[in-house]
Amino acid sequence: LITGRQLYKNYKEYDQQDVEICGWVKSNRGSKNFGFLIINDGTFFNPVQVVYDKELDNFGEAAKLNVGTAVIVTGTLVATPEAKQPFEIQAKSVEIEGSCSFDYPLQKKRHTFEYLRKIAHLRPRANTFQAVFRVRSLVAYAIHKFFMERDFVYVHTPIITGQDCEGAGEMFQVTTLDLEAAVKKGEINYEEDFFEKPVNLTVSGQLAGETFAQAFRNIYTFGPTFRAEESNTTRHAAEFWMIEPEMAFADLEDNMEIAEQMIKYIIGYVLEYAPEEMKFFNQFVDKGLLERLHHVAESEFGRVTYTEAVKILEQHNDQFQYKVSWGIDLQTEHERFLTEKVFKKPVFVTDYPKDIKAFYMKMNDDEKTVAAMDLLVPAIGEIIGGSQREDSLEKLEKRMAELGMDPKDYDFYLDLRKYGSTRHSGFGLGFERMVMYVTGMANIRDVIPYPRTVGKCKY
Ligand code: 4AD
Ligand code: MG
Repeated sequence: LITGRQLYKNYKEYDQQDVEICGWVKSNRGSKNFGFLIINDGTFFNPVQVVYDKELDNFGEAAKLNVGTAVIVTGTLVATPEAKQPFEIQAKSVEIEGSCSFDYPLQKKRHTFEYLRKIAHLRPRANTFQAVFRVRSLVAYAIHKFFMERDFVYVHTPIITGQDCEGAGEMFQVTTLDLEAAVKKGEINYEEDFFEKPVNLTVSGQLAGETFAQAFRNIYTFGPTFRAEESNTTRHAAEFWMIEPEMAFADLEDNMEIAEQMIKYIIGYVLEYAPEEMKFFNQFVDKGLLERLHHVAESEFGRVTYTEAVKILEQHNDQFQYKVSWGIDLQTEHERFLTEKVFKKPVFVTDYPKDIKAFYMKMNDDEKTVAAMDLLVPAIGEIIGGSQREDSLEKLEKRMAELGMDPKDYDFYLDLRKYGSTRHSGFGLGFERMVMYVTGMANIRDVIPYPRTVGKCKY
């Protein structure tokens, strides 16, 4: 059995030869004496055209095939250099593997993304989602390839943890307790719980990642993370994947350097290995996409400190819903303004006020800001958050005390600063936001096979 991808790559070799292909009918049109089946076999973005005529034993049956039917076609491949598609198959037999009932929800017409979200189990068959999920798969592979080529070790950090890395309290608790009974009784007894203490789904693999960086030097994680953020936006999901490299003997500059290389590598990879899908996005999803991505691949990312960025933004406060002043956490509207209007390319914002960033970031000499970096990109805003980490035991303990954190919960983390501490840095790339960025898809729900957002957990 040959695949659509193999046929597209080598159709000249197969010219005038018999081939067998299986897939699903995307459309079937014809007249009294012949017809055209468009078949998607799933292996290649462009479908295969099959021509059949009265010679076919089951011509009558073929002419009536519904969209969605699973078929096996054998026939002669004929190169058609003049036509829109480079080849077609002249059918000798069309066998039905599985019929498709007439109420199939994916009839041949344009459906809204909204509608397709409601049938998430069928939407991977639709053009846009064929393109999205193949690109998602390729982006994942490109990321592994990027880090592996640079000798990073891939670490599997725990999904269930007692930690709240970001300190934002946005955790999903994991428990075996009968919560309903506990509510009735008016108390929760964690001694009876599986882990004998409250634990949660991880919000970030960073802290465990740091322990491995202090052993392997360069590591990365790539796994699911969970946040019970009640932000119902097109960029937030409750379950998303994060890539978190962590590098010993690296400062904030090194950190930004590797982040920039990684983004460019991913873009280069999808442009090379998914040209059909990328062309489709450029045509039907986001008209300026290809031009923008090529521009990003060639330009140097912008750099600006938080303090400078605030000075720029303050001059445009009349345009913002949420007014800017030093100390505020930048909102998406501000992030997008910086990257779309001021820099017109991806931009790193560095040195944020310590009070709006996590406890582990390295304090700058001004003692007001930390060695943080966020990467902002057009249309999305923040795609990466990272920092140099505090490597002084004394300073880290002081910061944790200020924030009311119990050092006992972080003894392993503090140990790293006692036993051969190094300057070290890392960042987290939101995988879904990266997929949105390279596909031009506007809603995070449309780049996740089965999205989980506030109030939504079907499948
Ligand atoms: O900026 P964040 O919260 O950083 C961290 O978690 C650090 N521990 C990373 C590190 O330094 N190792 O999250 C990192 C990225 C964000 O820039 C964003 O792209 C993505 O994760 N992200 C989300 N993506 C989808 N839905 C959400 N709810 C997200 N929250 C963060
Ligand atoms: Mg962040």
